[in-house]
Amino acid sequence: MSPTTSAPVTAPSHFSDVKGWFWPVDQLLFDWFLTRQDCAPRGTGDLLELGAYLGKSAIFIGAYQRPGEEFTVCDLFDSPAPDDPNSAEMGRSYATLTRRAFEANYLAFHERLPTVVQAPTSVIASRLTPGSCRFIHVDASHLYEHVRGDIEAAKELSAPDAIVAFDDFRAEHCPGVAAAVWGAVATTGLKLICITGTKAYGTWGDPEPARAELLEWLTSRTDLWHGVEEVAGAPLIRISGKKAQAPTPPQPLRPAAKDPEPTEPADPAPAPRNLLSRAFGRGR
Ligand SMILES: C[S@@+](CC[C@H](N)C(=O)[O-])C[C@H]1O[C@@H](n2cnc3c(N)ncnc32)[C@H](O)[C@@H]1O
Repeated sequence: MSPTTSAPVTAPSHFSDVKGWFWPVDQLLFDWFLTRQDCAPRGTGDLLELGAYLGKSAIFIGAYQRPGEEFTVCDLFDSPAPDDPNSAEMGRSYATLTRRAFEANYLAFHERLPTVVQAPTSVIASRLTPGSCRFIHVDASHLYEHVRGDIEAAKELSAPDAIVAFDDFRAEHCPGVAAAVWGAVATTGLKLICITGTKAYGTWGDPEPARAELLEWLTSRTDLWHGVEEVAGAPLIRISGKKAQAPTPPQPLRPAAKDPEPTEPADPAPAPRNLLSRAFGRGR
């Protein structure tokens, strides 16, 4: 993750104006999993994001919140990190982040904010109801101990067959995420359904129905490459999305202000002499 230098507080005009790390292939998969839950028999439940930054993925997820469901985001924003390594990570990558900037971005696309928990993600399991979430995005600290805790919380908060997406599960700059995610596969019963270059998608429920339907959908996509490989005793769908065509993005509530039509400059009216004189302190 490269450091960013600005945290805008002015409302973005387009989804593409919101800074973040949420690429078209993952937008397609979030859309696919979240839309599928509209039809799934046990598809009800809340939405949760651990690590929101400026709201790119939160704005996207918020579009799938249904009446009666909660959407919670948990992020430190401009609060201090709970330990030195996390503090160094925040300083490196999110130094200018503010909660105000997140909120301004989110409210450009949604009438109301999600429930914001401005705290370390270690508090989240105590704030939400066990088994209440149908979709969880784990994208906060990328340090091993934190991700391990976030995965434990995700397991506890997952509704039956909930989908959990893990960011940066294989990148060179954050080996702790890979260790924590694959560790959870080995020790907690997490089953991965598919991976992209940037995220892994899994469940503690039954992965088979989603896996089968996803494979069927993928055969219809000419912009996505996919293959299946047996990993740790289960089929894992690999998806390459270099040419992925992003779904229609969330639309801003208010259209971008148009530049005013250029007009003929009017001849400036001569300023009354006494005003000019007063302005320059030369009154008579
Ligand atoms: C990679 S960014 C999230 C990106 C966002 N999901 C997107 O797609 O644009 C990680 C976020 O996690 C937050 N974070 C880091 N450590 C945290 C912790 N211990 N508890 C809560 N949030 C944390 C940072 O403030 C940052 O906003």
